[in-house]
Amino acid sequence: MSSRSAHPPRSNGHAAGSRTTARKRAASKGGRAARERTAATRATTERPVSPRAASDNALALLHADHARVSELFARFEKLKSNGAQKANLAERICDELELHARVEEELFYASVRPQIHDDDLMDEAAVEHDSLRTLIEQIRNMKPGDAKYDATLTVLREYVKHHVKEEEDEMFPKVRQLDLDLVALGRAIKTRKRQLKGESEAHGLLGLTAFPGMMIP
Ligand SMILES: [Fe+2]
Ligand SMILES: [Fe+2]
Repeated sequence: MSSRSAHPPRSNGHAAGSRTTARKRAASKGGRAARERTAATRATTERPVSPRAASDNALALLHADHARVSELFARFEKLKSNGAQKANLAERICDELELHARVEEELFYASVRPQIHDDDLMDEAAVEHDSLRTLIEQIRNMKPGDAKYDATLTVLREYVKHHVKEEEDEMFPKVRQLDLDLVALGRAIKTRKRQLKGESEAHGLLGLTAFPGMMIP
C-alpha cells in the first residue's frame, strides 16, 4: 500500500528553511508570494473563524474520526452475540481506521513532519499505524466466534486508544504552534477521503468494504 501517492496541500509543502527564507524576503523586499503566504497565515490565526472553517480544521476532523471510532468500539463491546452485526461493526472499525491512518500519513503527517522537528514522535506514530494494520489484517481473516476474535478487537481498541492519546496530547498541541494552514489541510483530507472511498467502492482497494454506513465528514 503506497502511502505517498498524494501530495500535501500546496500551502503546507514548504520546508521550514524555505519558509523562513520567504518570510525574510517578504520583510525585506515585499515579495508578492511571500505576502500572500503571510496573509494566509494571518487568516488562520487572527481573523474570527467561521463555523464552516472550524469544522474543516484538520485537527477537528481527525479528532472527529477518533471520537467516531471510539464510539464504534464502545458499541462493539456491548454486543453479546457473534452474528452478522458483530462482523459488520468490526469491519466498519477496520475500514474507518485504515482510511484514517492513510490520510494521516499522506497528508497530515507529511505536512507536519518537516516543521515539527520531532522525528521520534512522527516515527513512533508511523510505526504504530503499521502495528494497527497488522491487527486489522488479523481481524479481517477471522470471524466472530473464532478463538481470540474478541481478544484481538480488544487489543486493537487499547492500541488505538494509546495511539490517539499520543496524537491528541502530544502531536496536536505542537501542530497548533506550526505555520500550517489547518483549514486547507482539513479540506485536502476531506477530498482525499472521498477519493479513496470512491476507489474502494469501484475497485475494492484499501481493503475497504465500502460499508454503507461509513461516514466521511
Ligand atoms: Fe494516527
Ligand atoms: Fe489519528
